[in-house]
Amino acid sequence: MGTEGKIAIVTGSGSGIGRAVAQKLAAEGIKVVVNDVVKEHGEKTVADIRSSGGEATYIGADISTWDGARTLIDKTVETYGTLDILVNNAGITRDKLIKDMEEKDWDMVLNINLKGAFNCSKFATPVMVEKKYGKIVNLSSRAHLGNPGQANYSSSKAGIIGLTKSMALEFGRFNINVNAVAPGMVATEGLKTIPKYDLVLERALKITPLKRIGQPEDIANLIYFLVSDDSSYITGEVVHITGGRY
Ligand SMILES: NC(=O)c1ccc[n+]([C@@H]2O[C@H](COP(=O)([O-])OP(=O)(O)OC[C@H]3O[C@@H](n4cnc5c(N)ncnc54)[C@H](O)[C@@H]3O)[C@@H](O)[C@H]2O)c1
Repeated sequence: MGTEGKIAIVTGSGSGIGRAVAQKLAAEGIKVVVNDVVKEHGEKTVADIRSSGGEATYIGADISTWDGARTLIDKTVETYGTLDILVNNAGITRDKLIKDMEEKDWDMVLNINLKGAFNCSKFATPVMVEKKYGKIVNLSSRAHLGNPGQANYSSSKAGIIGLTKSMALEFGRFNINVNAVAPGMVATEGLKTIPKYDLVLERALKITPLKRIGQPEDIANLIYFLVSDDSSYITGEVVHITGGRY
């Protein structure tokens, strides 16, 4: 699919979907920069990739800050000489009803989920523009449709769609594809932190036609397609991956 030897960054790949994406990309011959704020988790992903014969390096950085994102891109280019693929995956939830939501709950979620994707794209795109090649995938969520208790998270994931479409329009002429994926519930460490997880899961399964929760590998397979040249005429799209749930 034209990806052998390409260089990718996957943010937040110490766990969950990001880890599965890093593993899938590495298995396809891509050199992967594993980024996470939790060093041990990032290093574990790297160790797993290397033990399977893949190439990966851990670069720690907090992508919610301008400096963190810039450092991540600069160190990637220092290490591998260029950058072809960026997967803006790092994300968190801080679920609360609006009546209980504090300013810090709003700021933290928006800063990591939405501003973090902007920050990394801001510093990655000049490298891609220069070489007239790039693939960017942003993690939205089915929650962009709105969820009670997720005003901050839903807003960040709806914002990701606006960011994706704006970037696709700005960077298309430089042969840079920018797409978003919008998963439903996926079995990850992050998902288990949401309040009333068991109840939320039970309700979701009732209205999911495929009658199962998503696995990180389901999302990784889709993202691999979107960063490969098999999807080179797709840009500005939001691909839902929800087991048929809307
Ligand atoms: N799991 C789901 O059901 C689901 C559904 C839809 C969308 N998503 C989205 O997929 C992405 C991954 O979710 P997940 O469930 O795998 O989460 P997760 O919590 O398992 O993993 C997220 C990783 O991001 C890292 N991270 C957090 N803040 C960071 C920062 N500032 N800089 C760098 N790394 C940071 C965390 O340390 C963690 O390792 C998120 O954007 C999430 O919103 C998840």
